[in-house]
Amino acid sequence: MNGKRILLIIGGGIAAYKACELVRLIRKNGAEVTCVLTEGGSHFVTAMTLAALSENPVHTTLWDLKNEVEMGHIQLSRAADLVVVCPATADLMARMAAGIADDLATTLLLATDKPVLAVPAMNVRMWQHPATVRNVATLRGDGITVLEPDEGAMACGEYGPGRLPEPPEICAEIARLLAPASPGPLTGKHVLITAGPTHEPIDPVRYIANRSSGKQGFAIAAAAAQAGAQVTLIAGPVNLPTPPGVARIDVETARQMAAAVDAALPADVAIMVAAVADWRSADTAGQKIKKDGSGQVPPLHLVENPDILATLCKSDRRPALVVGFAAETNDVLAHAKAKLARKGADWIVANDVATHVMGGEINALHIVSAAGVDSLPEMPKDAAAAALVRKIADVLS
Ligand code: C5P
Repeated sequence: MNGKRILLIIGGGIAAYKACELVRLIRKNGAEVTCVLTEGGSHFVTAMTLAALSENPVHTTLWDLKNEVEMGHIQLSRAADLVVVCPATADLMARMAAGIADDLATTLLLATDKPVLAVPAMNVRMWQHPATVRNVATLRGDGITVLEPDEGAMACGEYGPGRLPEPPEICAEIARLLAPASPGPLTGKHVLITAGPTHEPIDPVRYIANRSSGKQGFAIAAAAAQAGAQVTLIAGPVNLPTPPGVARIDVETARQMAAAVDAALPADVAIMVAAVADWRSADTAGQKIKKDGSGQVPPLHLVENPDILATLCKSDRRPALVVGFAAETNDVLAHAKAKLARKGADWIVANDVATHVMGGEINALHIVSAAGVDSLPEMPKDAAAAALVRKIADVLS
């Protein structure tokens, strides 16, 4: 951390007292700390304490005339190497997720172009409230690193997840985020990945879907980011956190996914893992289709969805390496070989979903290419992802 500058935003929660210890630890590790104290934070710790510990002025208001003449909020957030929000309260994260800038802290967070680490601490019910779950997912989707809180007894007398992690743990995460990204085998490459199912609406409450969990595609996105790639992950409706360092775009239907893939080009590599619905309802009813008691079933007319992979392979912006997936229940390799030719992909990665792959943790991949079949043994999905990414890096080099 030597010589690095941390902007530490302290929110209004009892865990704010641990931020004082964090200031000491960061400085012990050689970095400089500038503190921003929210109105709520100032009820738990004083600006005087933080100024003494950081040996820097503490900023508390947006309406500081001298600093604002110098565009203080822009300068503060740009001068830092990393912005840390600790404790990140439910309210502060909600305002961050909504892009609200109604005080110095949230204005800085909106103005910054630096990495942001949020360290939540709150009552267990607040942490588990659907609004907070939604906000944390939004922040992670925006590329903010949100630490998982610790579990244990809380200041409010309840027990569960929501405690601020101990300062040494937070400090280790800060060091990890500040570490210069060592070049990986995919550094400088843009990798475009689709993952998860698509949902094709029938009416406002019903849709056509499949059992894809998105786990394999998300694991590949994580492995590609770890290998140094710039990763764009286009995800259908799944319940998974965004892997660190991955830019995620959420979509619902095949047509939205096709548009998002097109908008994300150019890319060096495309890995189409999504289980795109082959068909959608020809017309989507504007209102819920009612059962009228006559025993008559409504007709469901299906039309074919665009084939995103085949379209990409024919495009004049085709990535240098295009990898498709084939989830099959029988004749896995024969279907994969046929798909390779039909789609125009460089590789088709086949997996047998007759057993429990969809939604499961384990996968056995068979990479089918013009060169033949390269079968990997059965392994956890993240190991399979890492192995596939290594093979991609090999052919690109
Ligand atoms: O044709 P099939 O669905 O078996 O092909 C699977 C491969 O094609 C996967 O890589 C999947 O992501 C991709 N695909 C697509 N668009 C579709 C259907 C499949 O990109 N409409």
